[in-house]
Amino acid sequence: MSVNKEVKRITTNTIQEMKLKGEKIAMLTSYDYSMATIVDEGGIDVILVGDSASNVMAGHETTLPITLDQMIYHAQSVVRAAKRALVVVDLPFGSYQGNSKEALNSAIRIMKESGAHAVKLEGGLEIRESIERIITAGIPVMGHLGLTPQSIYKFGTYTVRAKEEAEAEKLKQDIMVLQNSGCFSVVLEKIPAKLAQEVTASVKIPTIGIGAGPYCDGQVLVINDMIGLTKGFKPRFLRQYLNLFDQINQAVQSYVNDVKKGNFPDEKEQY
Ligand code: KIV
Repeated sequence: MSVNKEVKRITTNTIQEMKLKGEKIAMLTSYDYSMATIVDEGGIDVILVGDSASNVMAGHETTLPITLDQMIYHAQSVVRAAKRALVVVDLPFGSYQGNSKEALNSAIRIMKESGAHAVKLEGGLEIRESIERIITAGIPVMGHLGLTPQSIYKFGTYTVRAKEEAEAEKLKQDIMVLQNSGCFSVVLEKIPAKLAQEVTASVKIPTIGIGAGPYCDGQVLVINDMIGLTKGFKPRFLRQYLNLFDQINQAVQSYVNDVKKGNFPDEKEQY
């Protein structure tokens, strides 16, 4: 008889308790079933189905082109794989900025059609109404401040945000807005470590940093960058744990060689 080992699901409450206990939160992106299975079994706390899928899965220059339907497709695949992790899905550009009713409809579609556990939206005060409407409908929201890639054409560059006093002040106000609106956590992307430390200490909700230094309550990386699948992308904040681009490239070359020379398949690899 097989023993059914029960896996305890990480919830939004779990990650809020982790902040209280001083336990760091580990988050990674995933976009498909195979990768999400590995990431989930690796013990990750939160899987983000990021709109970075637009870059790393679809090859777009920015996150803007990905659609709500495409995000739902990625989310469905990840949800099928994730047995333990909390699954958070990005609301893509254009699916929530118009008005709060549209934002709620988009969030409902993600939750209903994918089975994900929460959504993430980029921005502060300017999207407060949307955030509150989504949360009122019972859908947990993760915020995202600092470098918000959906606004790349407003920023004009991917460099560090909130280095100047005025922008840092706006970020401090925005994180309070997110907390008071009921967000369960917030991503801080590419801001000075000292600012991230200050805002992390000022709020009860966990902060999850990417390029925001070590004082956040957790860290997030794009899985493709972290395992070295994205050739030539090595920003300062990235720790690359593998170089899969080169390893896969070598495997492909060996396969091509074997096929061309008639070395594959051999006697044991046929029926
Ligand atoms: O889309 C994404 O992958 C993200 C992370 C960089 C936080 O938003």
